[in-house]
Amino acid sequence: SLRQHVPQGLKSPPGPRGYPILGNVLELRKDTHLALTRLSQKYGDVMEVRIGTRPVLVLSGLDTIKQALVKQGDDFMGRPDLHSFRYVTDGQSLTFSPDSGEVWKARRKLAQNALKTFSIAPSPTSSSTCLLEEHVSKEADYLVTKFLQLMDEEKSFDPYRYLVVSVANVICAMCFGKRYDHNDQELLNIVNVSEQFVNVAASGNPADFIPVLQYLPSRAMTLFKDFNKRFVHFLQKIVKEHYETFDENNIRDITDSLIEQCLDKKVEANTATQVPKEKIVNLVNDLFGAGFDTVTTGLSWSLMYLVTYPNIQKKIQKELDQTIGWERRPRLSDRGTLPYTEAFILEMFRHSSFLPFTIPHRYGLKLQRRWRDKVDSRKLWKDPLTFNPERFLSAEGTEVNKVAGEKVLVFGLGKRKCIGEPIARWQVFLFLSTLLQQLEFSVCDGKKVDMTPLYGLSLKHKRCEHFQVKQRFPKKSMN
Ligand code: HEM
Repeated sequence: SLRQHVPQGLKSPPGPRGYPILGNVLELRKDTHLALTRLSQKYGDVMEVRIGTRPVLVLSGLDTIKQALVKQGDDFMGRPDLHSFRYVTDGQSLTFSPDSGEVWKARRKLAQNALKTFSIAPSPTSSSTCLLEEHVSKEADYLVTKFLQLMDEEKSFDPYRYLVVSVANVICAMCFGKRYDHNDQELLNIVNVSEQFVNVAASGNPADFIPVLQYLPSRAMTLFKDFNKRFVHFLQKIVKEHYETFDENNIRDITDSLIEQCLDKKVEANTATQVPKEKIVNLVNDLFGAGFDTVTTGLSWSLMYLVTYPNIQKKIQKELDQTIGWERRPRLSDRGTLPYTEAFILEMFRHSSFLPFTIPHRYGLKLQRRWRDKVDSRKLWKDPLTFNPERFLSAEGTEVNKVAGEKVLVFGLGKRKCIGEPIARWQVFLFLSTLLQQLEFSVCDGKKVDMTPLYGLSLKHKRCEHFQVKQRFPKKSMN
């Protein structure tokens, strides 16, 4: 969290001494998540570092985070005004802009409702339970076919490149009612280079704190600005097409439903009265942007763990065989019946922690005094570095331990909590179970995947071109 002003007479929380002007920037510049973990072990769950001259409060530990984001939620719901965030959606982003007042609240509601209607709400027209199930099943089936074809033609491949288009297609289907070809260059120019975004939007980026750095040439910043331009351009074209073909009697997707909210006769009645029209429709930027990179990264880490721990992969497949069998594809309604698969997903979220921080919050200082001296030293996890899905299962292994599951905070907590959490969890479940029902994943003999996380807003891993798949059952046994 970022503090704006230091009132007189208030002692700062403990933290490392820094240099004049630079503060702690040198020790935080690389692998910020690891540097802060080390420092918080020394200074406690409420710690202050300085990046440049700006004080930054760093909170760790379950109780401390709950205290701030839930119990004192109102005081922590703002976002700081950071240099790089001004380039996201022309400074109008729901997620990154400093607005946290009534307009932000109304926009967040609108986005949440539109998202729900076109994902997990029961579908009146589709044969699936809901649109999300329909879209994910289709894309996962496509991936199975594509991976097998790549094996035939190339003998090995990099799955990320295909996962990202499939996941983007799911959010595209909900937002825009359309699907892209896996070779669509315009889409690939955005989704396949999301590191250009996450590198600069990472927590603690020095250029956000030391103004002089904003005037020095930076390749990362050039790529970031370019990325945001391409992104807005791509979406504006689609929104324009939607306006041109809009029909209030046939609301096709999230974009249509947001356009509908802007129509005059609706404006009187809904919460969006105060929200300018552009700020309603451009919510699709936030949904699309947050929706493709995060879920892809989660699925990609899942595949990395599956090839690193083949026995865990076999256990998931055994559970799938026993519970679903070979005669039909997994469905969303199977989720409660596959505890080991669910435990694997939780362990992937916990062990990778691929969103290592929330997006930064802003806070007012008067609040912290009551709880800042508290140090939460109880251990959260036994053997935290071991990858072990079973830590999330009941003693008999037949159920997911809910309390343990709730200790995994990748989606954040409180007023700024991720609005895509339910659909993200459903997607990861359905993609993985569909892929693993049909395919066995491995890497070429003698190769190993590199699990070292690369620091950013989301932690990526090095791409690996040595993935292989084997079909688990002859095609004819599937109906
Ligand atoms: C915010 C995690 C998927 C939409 C966030 C935050 C986190 C997060 C940590 C920041 C919370 C904070 O600042 O306190 C994740 C993870 C995902 C995922 C781990 C996938 C595994 C999605 C999806 C969508 C989405 C699929 C939408 C389609 C958003 C939005 C915000 C957000 C709009 C900003 C909320 C606000 O600032 O008020 N997410 N997310 N996310 N997420 Fe997600």
